[in-house]
Amino acid sequence: MRPLIAGNWKMNTLRADASALVVGLIEQRAGEDPGCDILLCPPFVSLGLIGDIIAQSPILLGAQDCHKEESGAYTGSISAPMLSDAGCGFVIVGHSERRAQYNETDLLVSEKARAAHENALVSIVCVGETLVDRDADNTLSVVEEQLLGSVPKSANAKNTVIAYEPVWAIGTGKTPKNIQIREVHDHLRMLLENNFADGNEFRILYGGSMNLANAGEILSIKNVNGGLVGGASLTVKDFWGICTSL
Ligand code: PGA
Repeated sequence: MRPLIAGNWKMNTLRADASALVVGLIEQRAGEDPGCDILLCPPFVSLGLIGDIIAQSPILLGAQDCHKEESGAYTGSISAPMLSDAGCGFVIVGHSERRAQYNETDLLVSEKARAAHENALVSIVCVGETLVDRDADNTLSVVEEQLLGSVPKSANAKNTVIAYEPVWAIGTGKTPKNIQIREVHDHLRMLLENNFADGNEFRILYGGSMNLANAGEILSIKNVNGGLVGGASLTVKDFWGICTSL
């Protein structure tokens, strides 16, 4: 399956930085197909700007979160139909920063993913263990509970991507050993196959301190079908380097 490399810009970039970054990526992409799909997830306020710039390029657009409801009295929130209307094809749901900082539960994440599906968006559902979970040998049971609780029945391989992001690896420069990544991705694959008719076709991304130096190795692990990249998605050199390291 064609891998997906997604850049999660988080709460970074003003409009000028955002457009410079995307213009640089478009130039690279115009010269070479790296053999993967490239997705950018900028902050909400830059979606229109980035969407206009990438309109004629194969680069894809996504958001970092959505509300579970379609409209209403939810001050400060953005709904899935709004994202679709703004030109997004993807939305990240259940990122560990949102689970931790906004107390998002598996149930809420699954409702957001369902809202995404109902509005023609691909949901990128994130799961991952904390260091406490890993040290207690609970990694597989934690990601299993998150996956089964956060991926709605409406999911299939076309409207859902899974991202495995160990919380302790995000933004820390630390990554699991390749064998540990493989173990989790194999487990997630087994769960997807047991629960969804096309479970063998879902893309399962790895995220957490992916960079130029480690991307090639991580992306070649079985059942790793791409990456969700934070810090290293903020420069053309690093992000393009990751996209071409497959
Ligand atoms: P990082 O973040 O690449 O900066 O570790 C990844 C993520 O949180 O999606």
